[in-house]
Amino acid sequence: MSPLHVTRTLPEDATDAALRADVLAGLTVNPKTLPPKWFYDARGSELFEQITELPEYYPTRAEREILVARSGEIAAASHARTLVELGSGSSEKTRYLLDALTSLAAYVPVDVSESALTQAGQALIEERPGLDVHALIADFTAPLALPEKPGPRLVAFLGGTIGNLLPAERAKFLASVRALLAPGDALLLGTDLVKDEQVLVRAYDDAAGVTAAFNKNVLAVMNRELGADFDPDAFDHLALWDSEQEWIEMRLRSRTEQTVKVPALDLAVHFAAGEELRTEVSAKFRKDGVSTELDAVGLELTHWWTDTESRFALSLSVAR
Ligand SMILES: C[S@@+](CC[C@H](N)C(=O)[O-])C[C@H]1O[C@@H](n2cnc3c(N)ncnc32)[C@H](O)[C@@H]1O
Repeated sequence: MSPLHVTRTLPEDATDAALRADVLAGLTVNPKTLPPKWFYDARGSELFEQITELPEYYPTRAEREILVARSGEIAAASHARTLVELGSGSSEKTRYLLDALTSLAAYVPVDVSESALTQAGQALIEERPGLDVHALIADFTAPLALPEKPGPRLVAFLGGTIGNLLPAERAKFLASVRALLAPGDALLLGTDLVKDEQVLVRAYDDAAGVTAAFNKNVLAVMNRELGADFDPDAFDHLALWDSEQEWIEMRLRSRTEQTVKVPALDLAVHFAAGEELRTEVSAKFRKDGVSTELDAVGLELTHWWTDTESRFALSLSVAR
């Protein structure tokens, strides 16, 4: 069994400049906003795994259904020898691809969550002793330096995580993904689709309150890493559908007027009663939009697969 290789391109702890900069920028503007990557400490990654098993959270099941049905076609179309997965988390669904990609030499999972990466990576090298697993602790919104591995390369970005990027961030991100690909290399992209509002809202506001706990975890991260004194019980979890932008927003609404201290930033953050902090956007897609955005960065959509209920799509696009 080859050892798990781990490369870190992020500083050792989360009290790094990026968290400070995001909290300072996001909590001193109106409306207040934070990027979703700060949900994912060990507890946040664990809560996300619980979300994937909730009856209301259909995306994981729908995407798995597509992977079960289509991994053979994906392997035949990509001939990948290296699979790079962005935001890989538990790599749970990736196993269908790993089974189908019979010429695969290396798997490079990339995530900000060190705990998720090492847990998944360790399990994979035990399950598949011949596979070279090289985990990369990195932020996929920044330029990525991938380890040297044989081509062709397939980059997978599953779970609909692309929807967490705002449109301008998405365009920049897709251009940077294209820069990782040689002509003929491919991108496998999971996109959640526009659908009935009630189905969407329930997926982000489940009856058991797991998504609420996940949302509030960002407050725990700021308390631990920046010495802040957020009281999670002083905020309500909200999930709202924006029909114009076609995205779900997760927010935390302050129950009362309150001032929260963030000592590491020498900051006092005032919340009016009812004021909302946006913690995540989750855009929903249509085929034409996905195809246009891919085309704009030099990626040609060659396959579009949905689950039987057309809730979620996986697309394969090839670098020109
Ligand atoms: C919605 S989860 C999806 C996990 C998995 N791919 C799936 O489909 O179940 C998003 C994953 O992306 C990671 N992530 C979020 N923002 C990131 C960023 N900026 N850079 C790297 N990883 C990120 C999280 O830690 C988490 O594992």
